[in-house]
Amino acid sequence: MRRIILKTLSLIAVTCSLAGSLWAGSAHAQFAKPEDAVKYRQSAFTLMGSHMGRMQPVIKGQAPYDAAAIKANVAILKTLSGLPWAGFTADSKSVSSSAKPDVWSDAAGFKAAQDKFNGAMTKLVAAADSGDLEKLRAAYGDVGASCKACHDTFRAKK
Ligand code: HEC
Repeated sequence: MRRIILKTLSLIAVTCSLAGSLWAGSAHAQFAKPEDAVKYRQSAFTLMGSHMGRMQPVIKGQAPYDAAAIKANVAILKTLSGLPWAGFTADSKSVSSSAKPDVWSDAAGFKAAQDKFNGAMTKLVAAADSGDLEKLRAAYGDVGASCKACHDTFRAKK
């Protein structure tokens, strides 16, 4: 009886992990067309721009500092900051966009620019948690600089 139960349990475990890998597989086949990947990354960047921009009045001292609202906005920005990179698929290289060919030819440099940006984002989250406006200002400036640094190298000017 015990053996039957154990066998049944291991069968369930195998079935679950199989279903899990199938699920993960379908999640990886993210884009039906290369154009969809471009649209995806551009949409993520557009949202990032929006959630950076809406904090600017507070940073500039033109609007009162609402620590909870900033914290919530930074949490959204943090989630968004992980999204665009999956959209730089190899087959989207030939689709017309503002991404320079360097994104693919200098993949290590592009990754380094992402890492720098991720580091700045981690500090922005900590600054937003601290509730200290001066820390927030400094961290916001560093994030903005890391957006710009990547754009200077990897994004074509229109
Ligand atoms: C590691 C590089 C990198 C970082 C970091 C980065 N970007 Fe970009 N960004 C790009 C590239 C490349 C494009 C061009 C994408 C395209 O046209 O497909 C782009 C495009 C954009 C666009 C235009 C999207 C569109 O609709 O065409 C906006 C807005 C933008 N980025 C905002 C930001 C903001 C705000 C940050 C920081 C919070 C940021 N980016 C950080 C590389 C980066």
